[in-house]
Amino acid sequence: MKFFADTAEIADIQELAATGLLDGVTTNPSLIAKSGRDFKDVTREICALTTGPVSAEVVALDHATMMKEAEILRKIADNVCIKVPLTIDGLKTCKALTSDGTMVNVTLCFSAAQALLAAKAGATFVSPFVGRHDDNGFDGMQLISDIRLIYDNYGYETEILVASVRHGIHVLEAAKIGADVMTAPPSVIKGLFKHILTEKGIEGFLADWAKTGQSI
Ligand code: E4P
Repeated sequence: MKFFADTAEIADIQELAATGLLDGVTTNPSLIAKSGRDFKDVTREICALTTGPVSAEVVALDHATMMKEAEILRKIADNVCIKVPLTIDGLKTCKALTSDGTMVNVTLCFSAAQALLAAKAGATFVSPFVGRHDDNGFDGMQLISDIRLIYDNYGYETEILVASVRHGIHVLEAAKIGADVMTAPPSVIKGLFKHILTEKGIEGFLADWAKTGQSI
């Protein structure tokens, strides 16, 4: 499963990129606002930190303006992936852009029926938001299973990008279901490294090593 970082914070992306585990980045208008930076500058810097796709989102609601915004976004770098909302205009934009060879991430997906539409529109990625789904009393992981089943039934190549990931269990469940990608805040990705027994093990080994009086 590919790991994308869901952030516009350069230092966090640099740190994760250095682990060699980072396959791409997703941003959204809220994350850009949180960074307090110019969207073009921050997107350009992120694109230089990974060779993988970097999702940059349009903010228009109509197809014609979405296409104009996409043109501006895709000129920022070759690895920009245009993020469009799961609406009729968003999917029209998706169809036009992917037909032209541009990567598209269809975002704000909350049902398997919507995911089916995104695949039919030729989306490169579809982003079902599991955390927000759970927050509203639905089962986010059931949504991922349903999409996996439907995509496999028809051989759709659209990658399932599990988004709105809140914790390690989401990551694990997404991997068990066979999701293609997950995007999570850096804190969640870093949390995956942690295990109390790993920490205790290191502590014990170092204490015993100190008793030997040796150094490597
Ligand atoms: C995905 O591309 C979105 O940026 C993101 O996962 C949204 O997550 P949130 O529900 O934590 O805002």
